[in-house]
Amino acid sequence: MYDLARLREEFPVLSTCIYLDSASTTQTPRRAVDAMCAYFYEYAANHGRGAHHLARKTTERYEETREILGVFLGVDPGHLVFTKNTTDAINMAAHGICWREGDEVITTALEHHANLLPWMALKERGVDLKILPQKNGFVDPSDLQDALSPRTKLVTVNHVTNVLGTVQPVEEMARMAHDAGAMILVDAAQSAGHMPIRIDGFDFVAVPGHKGLLGPQGTGALYVKDYSALSITCHGGGIVEEVTLQGFTLLPPPARFEPGTPNIPGVIGLGKAIQLVEELRVEEIHRHETRLGEQAYDGLSSISGVAVFSPRGSPVLSFNVDGMDPHACAEELDRREGICVRSGLHCAHPLASSLSPGGTVRASMGCYTSPGEVQVFVETVEKIASRKKNPRSR
Ligand code: ALA
Repeated sequence: MYDLARLREEFPVLSTCIYLDSASTTQTPRRAVDAMCAYFYEYAANHGRGAHHLARKTTERYEETREILGVFLGVDPGHLVFTKNTTDAINMAAHGICWREGDEVITTALEHHANLLPWMALKERGVDLKILPQKNGFVDPSDLQDALSPRTKLVTVNHVTNVLGTVQPVEEMARMAHDAGAMILVDAAQSAGHMPIRIDGFDFVAVPGHKGLLGPQGTGALYVKDYSALSITCHGGGIVEEVTLQGFTLLPPPARFEPGTPNIPGVIGLGKAIQLVEELRVEEIHRHETRLGEQAYDGLSSISGVAVFSPRGSPVLSFNVDGMDPHACAEELDRREGICVRSGLHCAHPLASSLSPGGTVRASMGCYTSPGEVQVFVETVEKIASRKKNPRSR
């Protein structure tokens, strides 16, 4: 039973606004915030350093989150490296894979910048980039089949697009990549915690902590199936077994990929947040968000003067009001009813500008969004659209 009223008590801010910007970052539940406060008030110390009891407790709690995340994702926690966010995770792979000149990466025209720019930047290392075309928010796996070559080292694709919420056939793409001798990275920025995902069939998976997993900002992880494919890109304390003036020996992974003092409170909060997602069950979250997506789609697509770009059922819904700048529409939604949506190009310029040069308005729902909020959102868009057509109406 999905107890929405009880769930919403975990997020006090929801009583002050209608938050429809969960694709950007989700709200953080009270239990995660409480866990972070407890860290600061009761036992703050550094991770992995020092024999005193505070350091031991900090290390235990930090590593507990790795276990929780491993169980949640169905993988060995030892193959999860904590990162700052999805961008950091993807960059860790992009810079850490041992490239040779002439290697090729294949990505798609559906990516947000985090899964596009790191691959474009490899040009200076002699790595070529192929970009698969998209149609209505989907890539055609046969285009991947045609693009794969003996030079392809990596295929990288988002699971769910942040602009349209469309779901890509990542399992099929993984089979194709592996058959061609290439690796695959899946960007789970918009899917982890929102829908079931089996990640052990991929070589790398970038997971944000602060979106579907409900953790605080500044948290994320990279799943690495085979560490031999990856070198470290950042050096410092906490990753070494021994250092002399002649050199150093690294600790085994994942520690060798986490130099410096990490976001300890954030990771501890993330563990508590994932436990909430587990309690809700990700299948139920998916069902709930899909229903909200259908409700929003049906409501918006029945309004004259509104163009909806996302497919029915997507909880990430891009739309525009005819003749209205997306930012102006977002501002008016906020001014009228305190509705928080994102507008513009959504850090995905190629895809968003292909829908409309100035981008779109994007309403994105989360596990805590209620049908009543979606209704107010639809009614408010209707008022804005009718005022646009008839400026004297309200
Ligand atoms: N990728 C994030 C978004 O879609 C920032 O809003």
